[in-house]
Amino acid sequence: MVSPRTIGVGLVGYGQMGRIHTLAYRTIPLYYEPAPLIPKLVGVCDNNQSRAEVGRIQGGYEFACDDAMKLIERKDIDLICVCTPNKLHYPVVKAALEGENLKVVRAADGEEAVRLTRQVRPAAVILDLLMPKVDGISALLRLRADPVTRSTPVLMISGMPGKDAARLAGAYGAVKFIAKPFQLLDLLQTVEDMLAGAAPVAGNV
Ligand SMILES: NC(=O)c1ccc[n+]([C@@H]2O[C@H](COP(=O)([O-])OP(=O)(O)OC[C@H]3O[C@@H](n4cnc5c(N)ncnc54)[C@H](O)[C@@H]3O)[C@@H](O)[C@H]2O)c1
Repeated sequence: MVSPRTIGVGLVGYGQMGRIHTLAYRTIPLYYEPAPLIPKLVGVCDNNQSRAEVGRIQGGYEFACDDAMKLIERKDIDLICVCTPNKLHYPVVKAALEGENLKVVRAADGEEAVRLTRQVRPAAVILDLLMPKVDGISALLRLRADPVTRSTPVLMISGMPGKDAARLAGAYGAVKFIAKPFQLLDLLQTVEDMLAGAAPVAGNV
C-alpha cells in the first residue's frame, strides 16, 4: 500500500476555533480509509505566547511561536489555518500573496475598493460579500458598470453558508468564489488561476 502524503499544518490563534481545528486535524486519519493526506502539526502561533505553548503541548505541534511569519517562512508548512478574530485575517493573507511576488493594495470598505480599482487598475480584485459602506455585490455591480474596471477579474469571498452566495457572486460577474473558512493554498491557487486568465467559472458553485 502506498503511504499517504503528509501535509504540514501551521495554525494561527489557539482559541476556541484553533482548538476545534486542531482536534479535526488530529482525528482526520481516523475517518478515512485510506487517508488521502495525513496532517502533520508543525507549528502553532498565538500572540499570547503561553497560549501558544499550551497549543504545542495539548495539540502536539512541534513548535510554538507568537509571530505568524515564523509559520509562513517554514518550508515544511503547506497549509496555514487562520483562527484569529476576523479583523486580523488580512495581514496573513497579504503576507501569503506577497510571498508569491504579488503586490497587495488594501481597501477598508466596498466604496474604497471600487475607487482604488479604478485608480490602481489591479490585475485582480478580491471582495467579500459583506463589507462596510458598500457590500460585495453592489461593489461588483459598480465595477462591471464602469468601462475602466469592467474586465478586471473579481474573486468573491464569503462566510455565508450554503451555495447561494456563490451563485449570486457568479451571476453578477465574479469569476471565482471561495467560501470562508478557506485555506491559504486554495486562495493562492485561485488567485493564480485568475491571473492566468482561467476560464470564468465561479469556483465552488
Ligand atoms: N467560536 C466559534 O464558534 C466560531 C464559529 C465560526 C467561525 N468563527 C471564527 O473563527 C475565528 C476565531 O474565533 P474564536 O472563537 O476561536 O476566537 P478566540 O477569541 O477564542 O480565539 C482567537 C485567538 O487568536 C489569538 N490571536 C489574536 N490575535 C492574534 C495574532 N495577531 N496572532 C496570533 N494569534 C492571535 C487570541 O490570543 C486567541 O487565542 C473568528 O474569525 C470567528 O469569527 C468562530
